Amino acid sequence: MQRNLAWNIIRVRETGSTNSDLVRLASEGKADEGTVIVAESQTAGRGRQGRVWVSRPGAGLYFSVLLKPDATPAQVATLPLAAGVAVAKALEGLLPGRRFSIKWPNDIVADGKKLCGILCEAGEKEGGRYVVAGVGINVNIDVDALPPELTEIATSLKMLSGREFGTSSVLAAVLKSLEEVYHLWLIGGIPAIVSELESRDYLRGRRVEMRLLGTPVSGTACGIAETGALLLRRDDGAIEEIYSGEAHIGSAG
Ligand code: BTN
Repeated sequence: MQRNLAWNIIRVRETGSTNSDLVRLASEGKADEGTVIVAESQTAGRGRQGRVWVSRPGAGLYFSVLLKPDATPAQVATLPLAAGVAVAKALEGLLPGRRFSIKWPNDIVADGKKLCGILCEAGEKEGGRYVVAGVGINVNIDVDALPPELTEIATSLKMLSGREFGTSSVLAAVLKSLEEVYHLWLIGGIPAIVSELESRDYLRGRRVEMRLLGTPVSGTACGIAETGALLLRRDDGAIEEIYSGEAHIGSAG
């Protein structure tokens, strides 16, 4: 049976970071599953690996969702992949005919440029696990309004389609898709959605460099395992399963 999430959407004009706000509420036991904080702008938007997520008003959609899955830590670690699938599917629904790629673990990429980033932060409160999934989508920003360092590497829904989108309708589409994919993930885990990941795998066949337990490793990405791990073929032919980290695309190989 479909698990219906009762979304409780809290809208704010400006905040530091919707993720920080929701992590605080969750860690204090003050928010239920399905709580969503959406901000028109963030003054301290955060990305993975300590990066800054530039969050100007009118440029993007910035929101965080609280999920409380009844799952083990190992299962919870795969939820970010499900979040990426959910967002990719929602955005494909908004731009019919488009198929987005997912750069493992969950960046949404179009024409080789980043359209959306997701930052998932997990915690525990009174024995129950929670995940705050923070989503930043470039919606109506034009290329000339992007910070110079992003013009070659970022894109937006407007840049891809030539039209503007209401952030509320983008949010509604993502929440609907998240509800569906979360339901599949709760029932079947990553195996239930791995084909959606594989068919959008941006890294497959690319030369990537990453750190494995602090040690640099490089190889050619060769798919996603049933566990959700990134598969990396080392130069000696050995296949490495990577469970966390950031894949940097290296020279073609
Ligand atoms: C990344 O690509 O590194 C992840 C970016 C995640 C940005 C979103 S915007 C809403 C939420 N609040 C934050 O501070 N970060 C996430």
